[in-house]
Amino acid sequence: MGFTVIIPAAGQGKRMGKKINKLFLEINDETIIRHTVSIFQNIKSCEQIFIAAHPDEVNMMAAHLKDFDKVAAVISGGKERQHSIYEVLKVIGNTDVVMVHDGARPLVSSESIEQVYKDTLVHEAVILAVQVKDTIKRVVDGVVEETYNRSTMWQVQTPQSFKRDVILNAYQLAEEDQFLGTDDASLVERAGYKVHVTNGDYNNIKITTNEDLVVADSIIERRGMKDV
Ligand code: CTP
Ligand code: MG
Repeated sequence: MGFTVIIPAAGQGKRMGKKINKLFLEINDETIIRHTVSIFQNIKSCEQIFIAAHPDEVNMMAAHLKDFDKVAAVISGGKERQHSIYEVLKVIGNTDVVMVHDGARPLVSSESIEQVYKDTLVHEAVILAVQVKDTIKRVVDGVVEETYNRSTMWQVQTPQSFKRDVILNAYQLAEEDQFLGTDDASLVERAGYKVHVTNGDYNNIKITTNEDLVVADSIIERRGMKDV
């Protein structure tokens, strides 16, 4: 028993504004994608890793990750993140639990991943999230329409983890309806499943813009100091 992880890495990193896919940029002398893959490689309950890569980067990605023996395949991704993940779901073999984790989140802790996995065995659909720190308002044309109750608002991260049939059904339904969601759980929610939340930590940031590289470097440096 264990889980399979899909790591979408087929984006272009447009908001980073560099010529290359941001996942090949380095933090602490290692590429972002290698940081991410190595976390899963070292988790015992992780059995296989599937990577979605940009169609032009499949060979390069496979070569870049060749020393990680849990990487089962590098699959050509699609236009949107959801399409990339669907391409991988089509080839994934028999497995109990499927997790999805962004290539661009190299700071997730192994404790969080293990907790999400354990919770999936009980709840069938689980996402990692943290409570929002700021008050969230709905604004239309520069005018506030509504203020949400902060204690009910959660900022969603990855991994998002599902029993295999749950994520397969949800993605198939989204494909039939031509529904495009902003995370995996939104597809699972609309398919009628209950999605549970596991409390994560604020360090699990998604590397999106230049400033995030600086923050990521400093988080890794702080962790290194704790190890000494
Ligand atoms: N991703 C993917 N396939 C796509 C688009 C995104 O596999 N068609 C992946 C990215 O590589 C990333 C994750 O999904 O690991 C989260 O997406 P995001 O942070 O938005 O990355 P990019 O799409 O690369 O960045 P941007 O939106 O700034 O172009
Ligand atoms: Mg994107």
